[in-house]
Amino acid sequence: VASPTLAVIPGDGIGPEVTAEALKVLEVASPVTFESTRYDLGAERYLATGEVLPDSVLAEIREHDAILLGAVGGKPNDPNLPPGILERGLLLRLRFELDHYVNLRPSRLFPGTASPLAAPGDIDFVVVREGTEGPYTGNGGALRVGTPAEIATEVSVNTAYGVERVIRDAFDRAEKRPRKKLTLVHKTNVLTNAGSLWWRLFQSVGAEHPDVTTDYIHIDAAMIFMVTDPARFDVIVTDNLFGDIVTDLAAAITGGIGLAASGNVNPDRTTPSMFEPVHGSAPDIAGQQKADPTAAILSGALLLDHLGHADAAAAIETAVLADLSERAPGTSRRTSEVGDAIAARL
Ligand code: NAD
Ligand code: IPM
Ligand code: MN
Repeated sequence: VASPTLAVIPGDGIGPEVTAEALKVLEVASPVTFESTRYDLGAERYLATGEVLPDSVLAEIREHDAILLGAVGGKPNDPNLPPGILERGLLLRLRFELDHYVNLRPSRLFPGTASPLAAPGDIDFVVVREGTEGPYTGNGGALRVGTPAEIATEVSVNTAYGVERVIRDAFDRAEKRPRKKLTLVHKTNVLTNAGSLWWRLFQSVGAEHPDVTTDYIHIDAAMIFMVTDPARFDVIVTDNLFGDIVTDLAAAITGGIGLAASGNVNPDRTTPSMFEPVHGSAPDIAGQQKADPTAAILSGALLLDHLGHADAAAAIETAVLADLSERAPGTSRRTSEVGDAIAARL
């Protein structure tokens, strides 16, 4: 595409601050000029109009080549903003409607970056988080709300179709990496119905990939290894909720949530994929130019890579690496200063 189209959803809190820096860097790094359209979706629009993601806006967004998103969501427990309105109605709706079944979350401990682990080792893994199923589907309900007999359910949905396609994607990714190792993380000892489905499909798809080394670890034990021996992981495939939790820990051990990038990918390319930092809207530091835009900038690199500009993506990563290695401990720069410094290296 000569001039690819980009739907930009800066969102809430620090979302607009970090998105501005990601766009700044994209502009200098990209070999193509994006035609961007900004969508003012998020808390402000919802509070002013009651709209979260109108169908007509979704239809427009769908026509773009890619989506760049900052973060959505308000302050936890804001009485004007019921929990889940934006998370479900905007973010998850985009992921579900655009069939982003691979939530790709790479974790690398870049040289010179401080890990809180005493012995981090060489951390370089990618989590392939299922993006359209699990307990995220809204398949649940509440009975007798507010009474002592209240019952609340959130039933995890796992379909053979959905599980097989994400496992296939994870094997394909593992096969392209030097170590060719794929770890299934689940809880097959307790979640026996879903666990059995994941395990059977992991084995049957694995049989088609004899060159990929496979491993299985229960989610709880995986959290031990993520702290004691994270270098053991290469590609991890897991369900939507486990993947959410694992990737915040993965961010923490590789220098913090401010560095963790992600892509909500539709590998079949029938819809635009969406790139966003792993972090949220960080209401505690919003509007103060305190947020680290690196995660958003690296998400821009994932976006370029997805659109076929691997060299430009690698150039952003190199610029980020150089910037990280020169970050003086104990000092802090404004959000825009970090973006400027990274853009200047390109
Ligand atoms: P959060 O990721 O927003 O913040 C957790 C902590 O990390 C906070 O202390 C925050 O200041 C810090 N932090 C986050 N990003 C940072 C950055 N770039 N630089 C420096 N520090 C950073 O998670 P939360 O507090 O659980 O959620 C806040 C809101 O964001 C909620 O409404 C939640 O639903 C939403 N959320 C949205 C997304 C998303 O849009 N993809 C992801 C997670 C949470
Ligand atoms: C993330 C976020 C979202 C998730 C929320 C805000 C719906 O935590 O992108 O990691 O759970 O997927
Ligand atoms: Mn999360």
